[in-house]
Amino acid sequence: MDRIIVLPGDGIGPEVTREARRVLEAVAARHGLKLGFEEALIGGASIEATGTPLADDVVALCRESRAVLLGAVGGPQWDEMPVETRPEKGLLRIRKDLGLFANLRPASVFSALVGASSLRPEVVDGIDLLVVRELTGGLYFGEPRGIALVEGEREGRNTMVYTEHEIARIARVAFESAARRRRHVTHVHKANVLEVSQLWMQVVEEVARDYADVELSHQLVDSCAMLLVREPKRFDVMVTSNLFGDILSDEAAMITGSLGMLPSASLGEGGIGLYEPVHGSAPDIAGQDLANPLAAILSAAMLLEHSLDAAPAATEVREAVSRVLAAGHRTGDLVLDDHEGDTLGCRAMGDLVIEQLESAP
Ligand code: IPM
Ligand code: MG
Repeated sequence: MDRIIVLPGDGIGPEVTREARRVLEAVAARHGLKLGFEEALIGGASIEATGTPLADDVVALCRESRAVLLGAVGGPQWDEMPVETRPEKGLLRIRKDLGLFANLRPASVFSALVGASSLRPEVVDGIDLLVVRELTGGLYFGEPRGIALVEGEREGRNTMVYTEHEIARIARVAFESAARRRRHVTHVHKANVLEVSQLWMQVVEEVARDYADVELSHQLVDSCAMLLVREPKRFDVMVTSNLFGDILSDEAAMITGSLGMLPSASLGEGGIGLYEPVHGSAPDIAGQDLANPLAAILSAAMLLEHSLDAAPAATEVREAVSRVLAAGHRTGDLVLDDHEGDTLGCRAMGDLVIEQLESAP
């Protein structure tokens, strides 16, 4: 039996992971996969119950599992807390403790949703890119860090630091991914200003020598942000540092129509994968059955593919989602002004995906 730990977290996390789990259960039954689920706390929910955003026993539980399915963390009630004890720290810690250095964020567009983007349909139709974000280093984790009183005034400090092995291993993930796709890697950097980026340039070039059939280009992060809205189809795989990847993956997600559609996988050397929707906890709509569960459901599809070696089951989930959208069903985040028909809630959307799954041949 493969053990899956569900960490629902805060805001809409519990409702979207509930639907993703139901989808996993339905698809597992069809494919003879034996899954055992266990739930645990992370983020604000964990702070309220245990005083810390991620307890040690939860990390231990995840270490013993095949995969982790996570909802989202954070909310306004914890916004005043210091960085060290905030809900987000739980998420950062689980990534770090499980060694999940490679964050894969695919942004592609379902044809039924081309019209939901704020960009023109001809710019959007056919977008299929993968952001490979370094997840356990860079500014997020670099030392020294903190706010201190220096010569009578407060000073804030963070450190952007990468070693060559951290860069090489994420570059390899990008080249391996590109080799299975359209064979193009764009390395995103700020080498005109940052030494760290200059090292990334060198190391990514070195790794590229092992992948003769994958083309490599380098793009400054500011112009990359611009090109993403002008010509998103030119990108295949993008590889970049933790902070740049955080920013660009939200942008990539939004041009496909809704942040509510984008899944992610975080992988490492330990064999455990963590899967989470790219959207956040959306506290404004939490608990009202308004959330779009599709990003969580598509994250479950990535779990099937990367952690359970069940690519056919993953394809079935994606196709079920695609048919539900093609039939015109929408949650609120996907609704355009000219949309006709009902707006669905989170549970009803999950029901439709399961219905489509079960009626597949
Ligand atoms: C993400 C989120 C997180 C991050 C936050 C919640 C800490 O924005 O997964 O992209 O910055 O990595
Ligand atoms: Mg983010």
